Amino acid sequence: MKYILTVFAGIAGVVNALATPDLGGRGAPPSYSGAPGGSAWDLKKFSSLVIFGDSYSDDSRLGYFISNGTPPVGWINPPNNKSADGGYIWGEYVVRYARVNLYNYAVSGAVCSNNITPRYFSAIEADFPSLAQYEVPAYVADSKFVKPDGEAFIEGSEEERVYAFWDGTNDLGYYAFVQDEQVPGTDLTTYTDCMYNQISRVYANGGRYFVLFNIAPLDKAPIYAAPPYDVGANQYWPDKPKNHTLLNGRMIQEVATVNAIFKYRTPYAVEIKRRFPGAKVAVFDVHGLMLDIYNYPSDYLNGSAPLDVSGYANHCNTTGGDCVANPSPDSFLWWDELHPSEQTERVIAKTFVDVVKGASKWATYWG
Ligand SMILES: *[C@@H]1O[C@H](CO)[C@@H](O)[C@H](O)[C@H]1NC(C)=O
Ligand SMILES: *[C@@H]1O[C@H](CO)[C@@H](O)[C@H](O)[C@H]1NC(C)=O
Ligand SMILES: *[C@@H]1O[C@H](CO)[C@@H](O)[C@H](O)[C@H]1NC(C)=O
Ligand SMILES: *[C@@H]1O[C@H](CO)[C@@H](O)[C@H](O)[C@H]1NC(C)=O
Repeated sequence: MKYILTVFAGIAGVVNALATPDLGGRGAPPSYSGAPGGSAWDLKKFSSLVIFGDSYSDDSRLGYFISNGTPPVGWINPPNNKSADGGYIWGEYVVRYARVNLYNYAVSGAVCSNNITPRYFSAIEADFPSLAQYEVPAYVADSKFVKPDGEAFIEGSEEERVYAFWDGTNDLGYYAFVQDEQVPGTDLTTYTDCMYNQISRVYANGGRYFVLFNIAPLDKAPIYAAPPYDVGANQYWPDKPKNHTLLNGRMIQEVATVNAIFKYRTPYAVEIKRRFPGAKVAVFDVHGLMLDIYNYPSDYLNGSAPLDVSGYANHCNTTGGDCVANPSPDSFLWWDELHPSEQTERVIAKTFVDVVKGASKWATYWG
């Protein structure tokens, strides 16, 4: 809470610790056909994508906060060719691959709730805007906004609109859970409660199609990796503690635990508690997908440099200056210590389009 953070604080991944990767991966059934008796995903037309998240998804929203303060209702978030992955973010590739409108509420540095893991950002003299306190309310306000020409700001009906939630990197990471800096009385289940509560708020506003991303393999990201793939003090975490084996072990546990909660609580919330009647919720195993890139890089990475899944493309000093980028970032799983590369995000975007079609082995479908 007392730290000065650099602009982008992202998310990262998970681990393969306890995982029996039954949501996909090599050797998994080719595809999961959905909840018993139901079709996997009955979206007839995909015309709009709404994203809630952090720097793994942010276009220009944190940048606007830094330059101008809170965006007004009806603000159009411009595509950013220098987002935290070094290029365009995954949502911009979904726009290209599926020809949809994008309404992107993700803010770099965000957590689910600043009542759980607040992270102070000196450039805006406030905590990073979070999903609960900023992103979801900003969307709800935009969803009611009518432009001067009389058209709704958010185009198309709920039947054609998909909501993506990808959060966790900051909540689980530095200056937050991995360092026991959460608000007293909160824990990983308070965090997962928060995520389902945000889905509930969007559902109450009319949302019906939800994709919950699980946590990326953060323990494989250079910033949380175990020796020999670890990094020391860096642009995001200049005072990183010295015992990287200990940090990596903590992150392995966090990622595996949260992903197990998402995996089992989603069917509980949807099918047993019937929290979202009439809605469809897919859990996108982006963790499994990114581990597949890690394990089988030549299936996904396409740069001209040697393929690299444990290092990263863009090297900066501990204050974020003097950056030197590898000329072939598409050879890397990670753009920097914390963020996936643009090629990784292209793979995520392509897979997301399959998830929405209801036919991806990287998703489980409920409702
Ligand atoms: C990136 O975007 C900026 C404006 O936002 C533009 O001036 C620049 O040409 C773009 N670069 C590329 C490689 O598209
Ligand atoms: C670092 O943490 C690991 C795991 O807890 C522990 O086994 C090891 O002794 C620690 N190393 C140092 C130098 O304290
Ligand atoms: C890698 O593949 C993507 C499509 O997935 C393409 O847009 C990109 O230009 C390719 N990169 C290189 C270096 O060829
Ligand atoms: C990082 O690079 C910038 C730009 O050259 C420089 O101003 C800053 O002092 C450097 N930081 C460190 C810790 O060396």
